[in-house]
Amino acid sequence: MIRRTATWIATAVVLGGAMPLEALAVDEHPGRFIAANCTGCHGTQGRSTGGMPSLAGLDRSYILNAMEEFKSGTRAATIMHQHAKGYTEAQFALIAEYFAAQKAR
Ligand code: HEC
Repeated sequence: MIRRTATWIATAVVLGGAMPLEALAVDEHPGRFIAANCTGCHGTQGRSTGGMPSLAGLDRSYILNAMEEFKSGTRAATIMHQHAKGYTEAQFALIAEYFAAQKAR
């Protein structure tokens, strides 16, 4: 399982834009495993049930931009600065792809 995850991530990173991520079934999305670190607060598949903002169905570029701003500290946050610092740009891209692909409801 871990090896399979690593293979997915490596494949997505190596192939970059050449690999149409939209073509993958949602369950098999390589961003799913990294995004799992976010769903404890932001809800299953990013659908929050209150309190936290939902991420499901947000624009990919909105999520990406927010993560970059959290990482650089230019966007105000209580907790997201710490979270954003743990990921690379490539991982942000996978996370953003994943949540953008989820249905809001
Ligand atoms: C411990 C709870 C927690 C975890 C885990 C968490 N977040 Fe957040 N997130 C928040 C809170 C709280 C906010 C509101 C900003 C703040 O106060 O930090 C937020 C805001 C955001 C926003 C801005 C939403 C908007 O509508 O503008 C994005 C995007 C986001 N988080 C993405 C993520 C991603 C991606 C992960 C996983 C890598 C993640 N978050 C993990 C608590 C969390």
